[in-house]
Amino acid sequence: MDLHAFRSALPDRFGGDFYSADLPDDAFEKIVADVDGMSTPHSLTLLNEAVRHLGPDEYYLEVGTYRGRSLIGAMLGHEHDRFVAIENFREFGFDPEIAQATVFDTLEKWGVRDRVRFLRGEAFTVLPRGVTPGPVGVYFYDGAHSRLAQYLGLAVAEEWLADEALVIVDDATWPQVASSTQSYIDAHPGYELLHDFRAEHDFDPLWCNGVKVYAWRRPQNWQRPDGFDVSWRRLAHIYGQEPVMNFAWRTLPKFPRVSAILKKAYLHGGTSVPEGRLDAE
Ligand SMILES: C[S@@+](CC[C@H](N)C(=O)[O-])C[C@H]1O[C@@H](n2cnc3c(N)ncnc32)[C@H](O)[C@@H]1O
Repeated sequence: MDLHAFRSALPDRFGGDFYSADLPDDAFEKIVADVDGMSTPHSLTLLNEAVRHLGPDEYYLEVGTYRGRSLIGAMLGHEHDRFVAIENFREFGFDPEIAQATVFDTLEKWGVRDRVRFLRGEAFTVLPRGVTPGPVGVYFYDGAHSRLAQYLGLAVAEEWLADEALVIVDDATWPQVASSTQSYIDAHPGYELLHDFRAEHDFDPLWCNGVKVYAWRRPQNWQRPDGFDVSWRRLAHIYGQEPVMNFAWRTLPKFPRVSAILKKAYLHGGTSVPEGRLDAE
């Protein structure tokens, strides 16, 4: 990953102002209008520019594809096939078969389906085995955002990163995402915060729930992050939190009123963006 080139080029993609509502390129607004999802045109612009600076053998990897919006945004205009996406279709209470078919149709419609390696599965089980034929130059984590999952989302990807890579964390203004990400980074050297794109409120039209962009440079004495801090979280997520959440997402649609309240609590309650957090870069 050419971190220097990425940093120099990024402001131009936003017309010099990361918080301007008008982006020079309206292609990403078209994706947002067409594909259901959470990423904003600003996030898609960021991902797309990141992909532009991948090394020749490096991959874009994302966890949490939902309906394909972020993936299509990252891929648009980049004609290679070094894209890998992991999605388990277990959140939001949709039928996984229908959800997957919808994603594939959408990827097909946008002309990118045959260039993606799409893995349906639990990221914290799939990723430790390795999923990309080459190093990951851009890693976008937008999977589950519990404290456990957030920490794991960074831990399980790190060994596959290129020696210099970008790590992009979505929903980063949410307090539990911010604190869990910071805990991981404090315990694992190599990360430098390049941008902290803040949301002013939940689902802000510019940066949704915030995005953090880190440069990762492999330290000289780098060690695979598989210590106790990672292993207990992995077990707690896979055997505790994930089955409970999965049961809840499958069961709740049968109780629409309870489901609406809990969805709101999940998306806003413990995870809300604190008000007035829109800081200039
Ligand atoms: C916030 S959505 C992703 C939004 C998407 N990036 C977009 O641009 O619209 C989070 C997605 O991550 C998936 N997910 C959550 N935890 C996961 C895990 N451990 N492994 C794989 N996918 C996961 C959920 O099923 C959900 O579709």
